[in-house]
Amino acid sequence: MTRHDIFLEESPKLGKHTSRYFLFFFIIFLFLVACNEAEKTKHLFLPSQPPLNDKNPSTEAGIALGKALFFSSELSQNKAIACATCHQPSSAFSDGLKHSNLGHSQKPLLRHTPALFNLAWQHSFFADGGVKNLESLPPAPLQHPDEMAQNLTELPKKLQKNPYWPSLFYDAFGKDSITNSLIFKALAQYQRSLISFGARYDSALAGFVSLTSEELAGQAIFERQCASCHKPPFFTDFGFHNNGLDSIYSPDNEYIKWGRGRITNQPEDQGKFKTPSLRNWAFTAPYMHDGRFESLSEVLSHYVGGAKFSKTVSERIINRNGKHQIKLSITEKQALLCFLQTLNDHAFIKFHCGE
Ligand code: HEC
Ligand code: HEC
Repeated sequence: MTRHDIFLEESPKLGKHTSRYFLFFFIIFLFLVACNEAEKTKHLFLPSQPPLNDKNPSTEAGIALGKALFFSSELSQNKAIACATCHQPSSAFSDGLKHSNLGHSQKPLLRHTPALFNLAWQHSFFADGGVKNLESLPPAPLQHPDEMAQNLTELPKKLQKNPYWPSLFYDAFGKDSITNSLIFKALAQYQRSLISFGARYDSALAGFVSLTSEELAGQAIFERQCASCHKPPFFTDFGFHNNGLDSIYSPDNEYIKWGRGRITNQPEDQGKFKTPSLRNWAFTAPYMHDGRFESLSEVLSHYVGGAKFSKTVSERIINRNGKHQIKLSITEKQALLCFLQTLNDHAFIKFHCGE
């Protein structure tokens, strides 16, 4: 007896023809479901599932609320500035400016606006790692006079008054009385949903395409010179390093140049900054915590001979005798740039721009 016959035997109430039709349509249905799933996940080749967040598990309604909040200018004092004013989807959630002046006071900020993606795996935030989780981050931009200048006691009251918000909070958290803590949780859920693993690099890793010989040559150079800090698959080690931008660290402007040293107060951390991911760099210029380089070739010129010596500079950039460690010929630079192109996830941008 074939499997098919068993199915027929076990469905005595259905006529033989009916059950065959049923089986036929059922198989077509499964096929369509499978195609649809493949379509949804085509641009995502996750290296691992994002770590679960017990205190703030993500739900569809929570992410939807977080998205609405992230894009709402009602979160600022003058109702003119949203998180997305500076974190714009078309720039992988950065803003293309050296020092953003898009905030409340229109005064340039001290640091460049970083891109936001794959934050679910990240365990410290800001260039100096001064914030430990996404739930505790929003008060900084919300209250800062140069960003959103919003009084936090007023914020929940303001949203509660607008009939648009309470039902969204009800859907997400089962209660429609709005608190700052729920606002921060929803924002965190949305930001954790910004996941980008749909670059050509990822398709190649999954075996769907092959990298060209030029790209592979660039990858080999990358592995030797860059990957120890910009570690695949995130293209960051989530650590702090001094990559040789400055030789002195002045305490001016709220100790901003001290980088990690500003948080730990340790001299050996001065001038160290969080390694940024190199994914999506085509959308995130200018570069570094202060946006000092406008192009990737400027960045490469920095690494090849332009880096400055200081006590805390990484030995992978300049050794203790002051010798530059990264050397690239013109052809090697070209190959490296070709490889770096494979890290840009155009589908991520299109998706979050609403296409
Ligand atoms: C006026 C521009 C501006 C606005 C508005 C703004 N940000 Fe930012 N954001 C920045 C800048 C600049 C930094 C870098 C701060 C630093 O490194 O010290 C940053 C950093 C971040 C980071 C850290 C990313 C990382 O990888 O370390 C997150 C997350 C973030 N912002 C989320 C938000 C949220 C949520 C809102 C709205 C509540 C918001 N931002 C509003 C400019 C802005
Ligand atoms: C010793 C660790 C280290 C090595 C090795 C290293 N980097 Fe970096 N890289 C960093 C750190 C740290 C930053 C951030 C510095 C800052 O924000 O001021 C950075 C920033 C960058 C940026 C700017 C990204 C952005 O969004 O602002 C690019 C591009 C970059 N590196 C490319 C490379 C390339 C290409 C190589 C190899 C030739 C390389 N890096 C080697 C640590 C390193």
